Amino acid sequence: MSETISHDILVLGSGLAGLRAALAASIATKGKIDIGLVSKVQLMRSHSVAAEGGTAAVLREEEGDSLDLHAWDTVKGSDFLADQDTVTLFVRNMPGEIFQLEHWGIPWSRRPDGRIDQRAFGGHSFPRATFAADKTGFFEMQVLYDTLTRYENTTRYDEWFVTSILTEDGEFRGLSAIDLATGEFHVILGKALIIATGGAGRISGFTTYSHSVTGDGIAMAYRVGIPIKDMEFIQFHPTGLIPTGILMTEGCRGEGGYLLNKQGERFMEGYAPGKMELAPRDIISRAMITEINQGRGFEGVNGLNYAHLDLRHLGADKINERLGFIRELAMKFVDVDPVYEPIPVRPVFHYAMGGIHTDINGETPMKGVWAAGETACVSMHGANRLGTNSTAECLFWGKITGEEAAKYVRGVTGEVKMPQEAVAKARAHLYNDILKREGKESIYEIRQELRRNVDKNLGVYRNGEGLKEGCRKISELKERYLKISVRDRSKAYNIDLMYTLELGFMLDVAEVAFNGALNREESRGSHARLDFTKRDDEKWLKHTLATFSAEGPKFDFSPVDISSWKPVERTY
Ligand code: FUM
Repeated sequence: MSETISHDILVLGSGLAGLRAALAASIATKGKIDIGLVSKVQLMRSHSVAAEGGTAAVLREEEGDSLDLHAWDTVKGSDFLADQDTVTLFVRNMPGEIFQLEHWGIPWSRRPDGRIDQRAFGGHSFPRATFAADKTGFFEMQVLYDTLTRYENTTRYDEWFVTSILTEDGEFRGLSAIDLATGEFHVILGKALIIATGGAGRISGFTTYSHSVTGDGIAMAYRVGIPIKDMEFIQFHPTGLIPTGILMTEGCRGEGGYLLNKQGERFMEGYAPGKMELAPRDIISRAMITEINQGRGFEGVNGLNYAHLDLRHLGADKINERLGFIRELAMKFVDVDPVYEPIPVRPVFHYAMGGIHTDINGETPMKGVWAAGETACVSMHGANRLGTNSTAECLFWGKITGEEAAKYVRGVTGEVKMPQEAVAKARAHLYNDILKREGKESIYEIRQELRRNVDKNLGVYRNGEGLKEGCRKISELKERYLKISVRDRSKAYNIDLMYTLELGFMLDVAEVAFNGALNREESRGSHARLDFTKRDDEKWLKHTLATFSAEGPKFDFSPVDISSWKPVERTY
């Protein structure tokens, strides 16, 4: 093993939440804290760069928006599963984040008078999506990265694949990782950890996510005993490009785009007449699948039947200025120019509302460990997230967790001890287990079957039979995973090995999601069961907590904060 590396704070993941956390810790300590920023990809390749439509914040109280309205929209959108104290804290702090990024130099799109512009987004009663054309995530990442380079206290470990969280006596000690470029195994010690590894979208075969989003942080936290929460709630974004799943931002509809069925009808009239194409995503996704199932969709390849996203009436100037990236993507990937033709779209796996269980400050039950962004479940999205509340969450809880972790490490004296047993276990898992397996099973076949299973049984609509089948299939795939072999034995950039480890993470996350969905006998937000079609507040107004055990996830529940609004029927 090579020389030991040690830092005060380890930030795992270099997307929006991770960068914001590193920056917050640096600012809070005037650059006097030693940070290790570890990512399996090159920093600017984190999936956050793919965020398109915007970041929610109340900037226009004089025009009728309010913090209460943003909070109410979020709570109603969540189908009353969001913790309302968390939502309140969030909405109060978001305007500050928008101005902070402005001061750091982000090129927010502007009104003709020069003030920051905002566009409409689904489920929000006021246009409060602050945006930078349709590349918001890219510009946010870029400005955070730029600002971070002003501080010299952060050491980057780009393309280091973390294999486990190291603990001793239930306390955090560090991470084990493979430097992908050399294949060397390393231990990185730390006094505190912020997990910011994003979601797990690649458990699905039709997703907006980049290939790197495989639930690593969620699974690693789960494996060391940190509960994961509400994983059954998966968001389908209504407008994934056929057949790749590439995101066609909700900003298209925020700018006035229509959804049409095969008969040329704006079918949302029949589902959410008050909001039309700007209803929340769970409602639009169900409407689209219903239209398709009832024969009013267009026929696509591999069963990917679809609807049309029509921007033609917006005109070339508006499309070029506000949705230029969308035009480019549609032209490059499906040879459709949205100025002249509608774009083929269908609901696509987009976001996990659940994640690592944290308190309102992003702290997990394990001392010294925080989680931020999609990887965390701070419980602000409940059963269905509103668009643009995610980049916002990354920024705000990135900031909070960075500051909290910085405060914490000031109180930790002495060097972090090497957790010998945990290191030995991490090495053994890699070298005596994974790399020693000599079975005939292919990880690529298992991965494909996992994705097919998720797409078939954990979709927009679910039912008990499909969920049971899904759980059974995951158990089968986990068994088969024990019989794989890693065929590539090279050290440098052993992607075969990386995919193998990622598959292990995805199987754990999918197992929790399926079992949580089977347990939850109601329909709420994105969790729409055909065999339990109603929301059941009496039995199910509670969060699901899953804890790791060798036999499979153990489930428990925790209460929802409903201190501001009592749940009511959710209509739009
Ligand atoms: O449609 C979008 O641009 C996605 C935004 C989000 O998921 O918040």
